[in-house]
Amino acid sequence: DWTPDQFIESTVADLRAQIGSDKVILGLSGGVDSSVAAMLIHQAIGKNLYCIFVDNGLLRKNEFEDVLHSYKDMGLNVKGVDAKNLFYDALAGLTDPEAKRKAIGKVFIDVFDQESHQVEDAKWLGQGTIYPDVIESVSVKGPSATIKSHHNVGGLPDYMKLQVVEPLKTLFKDEVRLVGKTLGIPDTIIGRHPFPGPGLAIRILGDITPEKVAILQEVDHIFISSLKNTGLYDQVWQAGAMLLPIQSVGVMGDERTYERVVALRAVTSIDGMTADWCHLPYEFLADVSNEIINKVRGVNRVVYDISSKPPATIEWE
Ligand code: XMP
Repeated sequence: DWTPDQFIESTVADLRAQIGSDKVILGLSGGVDSSVAAMLIHQAIGKNLYCIFVDNGLLRKNEFEDVLHSYKDMGLNVKGVDAKNLFYDALAGLTDPEAKRKAIGKVFIDVFDQESHQVEDAKWLGQGTIYPDVIESVSVKGPSATIKSHHNVGGLPDYMKLQVVEPLKTLFKDEVRLVGKTLGIPDTIIGRHPFPGPGLAIRILGDITPEKVAILQEVDHIFISSLKNTGLYDQVWQAGAMLLPIQSVGVMGDERTYERVVALRAVTSIDGMTADWCHLPYEFLADVSNEIINKVRGVNRVVYDISSKPPATIEWE
């Protein structure tokens, strides 16, 4: 029978044999898969694994700093790269969801390629591909897919010419989590909700500006912290907030306001392919809504998304 301990033991031995004293490059996303893949390869080859974690400016509030810190605590040889402005520049004025995804994918490739050139003589590219990614394209929209759609733009970036090493290729998500737990990866990383590669860019409907990102980060932070504080976080598959491209009238004191609307979304799901809207308690929603409207300047209305997938999707873009 499959056990995480056995899997780790045999995989680490295989990786050692396969990689020897070569150098491996791996892009960390903050998600479960890339983190577990990194820890496995790290166990096998230590500092010869060069991890790259890119701040695209579209992550949750404090996420980049917090996760980078966790990675360092885990002993990973990781470089954090602040590329926020490159992403913001590339996104400026774009409103079409696919155009935003493409722009983000392209900047990511450029940044990653440049960083990978700093690692002399790297031979391998580590990836957190898991079994469902292999059998069907569940993660069609995942980072690797984004990368593929750019293959023919000016030839292959150099890092994609490296040999690929994918230690999680035979595992399902729950097995990946077990392996991660056994490897001592903190729960804050193992238990986290899925988060889309393009991040908050596809939760800000319309064009992206750093100001909008900052507003959405505050809203999202209140929502997610409240889910954690009330013990609801682990019952939800995925949650987040959308910043809508409209304003609505409100009132504050004697004054009328004309400010932004945010939509909260929380779903339950097994695999993200179908999902039900989550019946969060009214009291909880009321508290979150009050806190958002009281604390986040520029937002005067909060709505809750009660659509399931299909026919709606989890993300709004
Ligand atoms: P939808 O919105 O299609 O999302 O119901 C299903 C799952 O996929 C995630 N998602 C993405 N992940 N790049 C990603 O890496 C993307 O472009 C992307 N779009 C959606 C979404 O967060 C959900 O978990």
